[in-house]
Amino acid sequence: MHRTMRRMAEDVVTMEKIVALCKRRGFIFPASEIYGGIANTYDYGHYGVLLKRNVIDAWWQAMIGDRNDIVALDSAIIQHPRTWEASGHLEGFTDPLVDCKACGQRFRADHLQDLQCGLKPSKHPGETPQCDLTEAREFNLMFETTIGPVKEAGATVYLRPETAQGIFLDFKTVLGFARKKPPFGIAQVGKSFRNEITPGNFVFRTLEFEQMEMEFFVPPDDAQEWHEHWLKERMDWYVRLGIRADHLRLRAHDADELSHYSSATSDVEYLYPIGWQELEGIANRGDFDLTQHAKFSGEKLEYFDTASGERYVPYVIEPAAGVGRTVLAALCDAYDEDEVGGGERTVLRLHPRLAPIKVAILPVVSKDGLPERAQEVFQLLRGQMQAEYDEGGSIGRRYRRQDEIGTPFGVTIDHQTLEDDTVTVRDRDTLEQDRVAIDELPATLGARLAAPWESPKLAAA
Ligand code: GAP
Repeated sequence: MHRTMRRMAEDVVTMEKIVALCKRRGFIFPASEIYGGIANTYDYGHYGVLLKRNVIDAWWQAMIGDRNDIVALDSAIIQHPRTWEASGHLEGFTDPLVDCKACGQRFRADHLQDLQCGLKPSKHPGETPQCDLTEAREFNLMFETTIGPVKEAGATVYLRPETAQGIFLDFKTVLGFARKKPPFGIAQVGKSFRNEITPGNFVFRTLEFEQMEMEFFVPPDDAQEWHEHWLKERMDWYVRLGIRADHLRLRAHDADELSHYSSATSDVEYLYPIGWQELEGIANRGDFDLTQHAKFSGEKLEYFDTASGERYVPYVIEPAAGVGRTVLAALCDAYDEDEVGGGERTVLRLHPRLAPIKVAILPVVSKDGLPERAQEVFQLLRGQMQAEYDEGGSIGRRYRRQDEIGTPFGVTIDHQTLEDDTVTVRDRDTLEQDRVAIDELPATLGARLAAPWESPKLAAA
């Protein structure tokens, strides 16, 4: 059995380490890299795609698997341009920007203290005698394009900056077939686009990003109560995904921070290596959106209760989460370093539910019939869980690789396997190794993957 020296009391994670690990193991890397990259835009590789899929699956499970008052939707990215007039995005979805005539760069006027001067990076924009900043101008964050072959004659349309509006536009249609009445929700996951010019801190702030949004329609008098319900539900969801509770907090927006549509918003914040930052916003949008779209479209967007004869525009409680920010929080929370057998190891202590690969099948050597037996074990497990077969390199190096991608279990096939049909199951976190009969492997691993899990970093702190 391996010996491990834990030194987990201090958090060793930094954003640089996460960026390097993500690139080294092919989770996430800059997009268009052969052309030098493009600002705030990233691609997800194999393990990144699997991790992201697990986050999204867990969200759907919480929205429509565990409850029956929410239905799913997948609305279009490009909607009628009037949508954004009605929603207020055309008018008000802006950032204040200043240009520097000396260095030619553009900066968020309200973030100058966090940004570097284009001429002297040790200073903030505006701090050197050469800096020549213009007055702040409001700059819309929506990406604009044109429908039709000719730019001048075509209709200007926008890539959606939030998925939410598609839900409001479909409110009446969904109400017609979903057999639901308030309180009920409509949930969707999809890409949104924002022309962000602030440096993004890896996938924290990107030009395109996936949102997991749910609009929960409630009788107006119950809005406050449902807001509190969703604040608790959403905090609990992150904890259930293994994120340490002491790295999560709720922060209520001050009145001057609220979006134009919101009467109350609280953010779920995570303590990233760059400090406390928004992971998800949970807003009380009131009847703003349905009322606006009713006004602009001429359609009645209200609920009529046939039993009571009551007619009203529901209020909306909206938990709006980002997939990329959840992936980043999970990676930061899981990142750890320790010593194994006298050597340094980097390990992602991901919740097994989020881990891209659940089990690695590793023949101890690639000869003597072990690869063939290991392939049989791989075939036995792959239908039940995301499994990976690897026979290249020393067993130690293969374990290190699986530790870095967060694989909770390693199954090793050795010479004893050929004699008694047992394998070794190695636990990523405890490093304990148990001998298990091959025909019991699916049930044993299934049970261990489903068992309650708590971050070992929390236990060690
Ligand atoms: N419909 C409400 C809405 O869009 P938001 O707070 O602007 O609210 C919700 O966005 C979530 O979407 C954020 O909490 C964050 O997780 C994610 N998000 C927003 N802008 C993002 C960006 N540029 N890059 C990555 N994620 C972003």
